[in-house]
Amino acid sequence: MTPVESSSKDWDAASYQRISVPHEEWARALMERLPLAGGETVLDAGCGTGRVTRMLVERLPTGRVIAVDGSAAMVEQVRGILRPQDEAFVVDLTRLELDEPADAAVSSAVFHWIRDHDALFARMRAALKPGARFEAQCGGHGNIDGFRRRSAAVAAREPYASHLTEFEAPWYYADVEETEARLRAAGFERVQAWSQPVDVVPPDPREFVRTLTLKPQLDLLPAELHERFIDEVLEETGEPLTLDYVRLNISAVAA
Ligand SMILES: C[S@@+](CC[C@H](N)C(=O)[O-])C[C@H]1O[C@@H](n2cnc3c(N)ncnc32)[C@H](O)[C@@H]1O
Repeated sequence: MTPVESSSKDWDAASYQRISVPHEEWARALMERLPLAGGETVLDAGCGTGRVTRMLVERLPTGRVIAVDGSAAMVEQVRGILRPQDEAFVVDLTRLELDEPADAAVSSAVFHWIRDHDALFARMRAALKPGARFEAQCGGHGNIDGFRRRSAAVAAREPYASHLTEFEAPWYYADVEETEARLRAAGFERVQAWSQPVDVVPPDPREFVRTLTLKPQLDLLPAELHERFIDEVLEETGEPLTLDYVRLNISAVAA
């Protein structure tokens, strides 16, 4: 199991837990799609602060949760909600290896942070027993396009532009067709992907963009420019900040 070494992959776990209100709804909807008897071993791929992990713990009284994430801060936080039979560790999902394949896997709001979906789905398939359900949801094609366009316009201005010459968007918002094709190629059957637009108005826009949507740019900007950059992006987007999310849903079975 290879840990993620880059510190830029680390997240502000406490802030993420506070602001990620829409993620709670997405996670609930995702969990409703997964039938469980209660004794299975289920992988939470990209557990974050443990939103989905907690739901799995409740639904698996005699089963086991394996919670993994690329961020050490997130995994540290999730350990607090695990029982002795559960497990959490730091790993990049494109290099995931489990000792024993799981009975099912879920993942909420993670895959768009990963560029190599061929490697990702190959590792997910290898982590599952034949017949295991794989239910996931992440940012899909067109996700926060409007917000990204406006923040890119601010990022192109000085004093930000000279710090962001190395900026490469870390998100990958895959579409339905390519995702279904990749899942089949990775060894999944009964594959279904579908896209779901949903506007989100965050109650604390400043903290929301700082922790989530502007995190990749802020990681490259000097600390003294952070608040100014956020101010200018929020000015550009107008009030209330409305994020044009598009969720990509995935439902498949390991062949
Ligand atoms: C928006 S959070 C979602 C967390 C949780 N699933 C939820 O619904 O609240 C995205 C998570 O994906 C993790 N992540 C991003 N890229 C990853 C990778 N390559 N391997 C493992 N985890 C990754 C991040 O560390 C972060 O915890």
